Amino acid sequence: MSNRDRLKAQAAEEALRLLGEQSVLRLLGLGTGSTAEIFLRRLAEVYRAGIVPLEGGVPTSRRTERLARELGLPLTTLEEHPELDLTVDGADEVDPRGNLLKGGGGAHTREKIVAWASQNYWILVDESKLVPRLGERHPIPLEVLAFGQRVVERAVRALGGEPRLRLRPDGTPFETDEGNRVLDCAFPKGIDPTDVEGLARELSAIPGVVEHGLFPSSSVPGKLQIIVAGRDGIRVTRLSAR
Ligand code: A5P
Repeated sequence: MSNRDRLKAQAAEEALRLLGEQSVLRLLGLGTGSTAEIFLRRLAEVYRAGIVPLEGGVPTSRRTERLARELGLPLTTLEEHPELDLTVDGADEVDPRGNLLKGGGGAHTREKIVAWASQNYWILVDESKLVPRLGERHPIPLEVLAFGQRVVERAVRALGGEPRLRLRPDGTPFETDEGNRVLDCAFPKGIDPTDVEGLARELSAIPGVVEHGLFPSSSVPGKLQIIVAGRDGIRVTRLSAR
């Protein structure tokens, strides 16, 4: 196991410990990505052992849904449960204000919907994900309708971004679970933490953008908790909703 995987596993253990303390959290949003998968595997173990009671989980991607089924976790949908108790997910970057950059796996649209349906939102990261400014290392992913791709690209350039169509290894456009394309938009100087909310609004206002990967901490409706695993141990930052 790599050192980063060990840290991800420690963050997942802390989330399980916190979950074990709150048996009222029974309807869960299930995140996407390697950290969320580590959490899911352990969640399935404690669920099967009867330690953590679960009513149902809403997966944030087909990939997570497949894994959750394999693990025997009970699943539900937003149709049945439009309000969830808690979503547990990973992130690509976290800035000092708790703003998040997500969508490295292209699942950010469903991830955002599920997060916005949740009373509590726990983000698990290893300390390598902490950055002074979002976007310095990863582009901001924009899920876009193919029809509007060129128009979105021009609008992103006007905002100072450099859009690039995400491709599969075979060179064809990557497709999200919703059948849309992804534009990875580089903002090489990064985004000042105080500007994240404004940029998020501007990106959302471009017609043809289905969803972008910025999750400003101030607009997360539920209680946001960021669980960071580092060499010096676990740090939990709680950010209240507006
Ligand atoms: C999926 O689209 C992303 O938003 C993930 O949540 C994010 O990429 C974190 O993934 P890792 O845990 O694999 O770093």
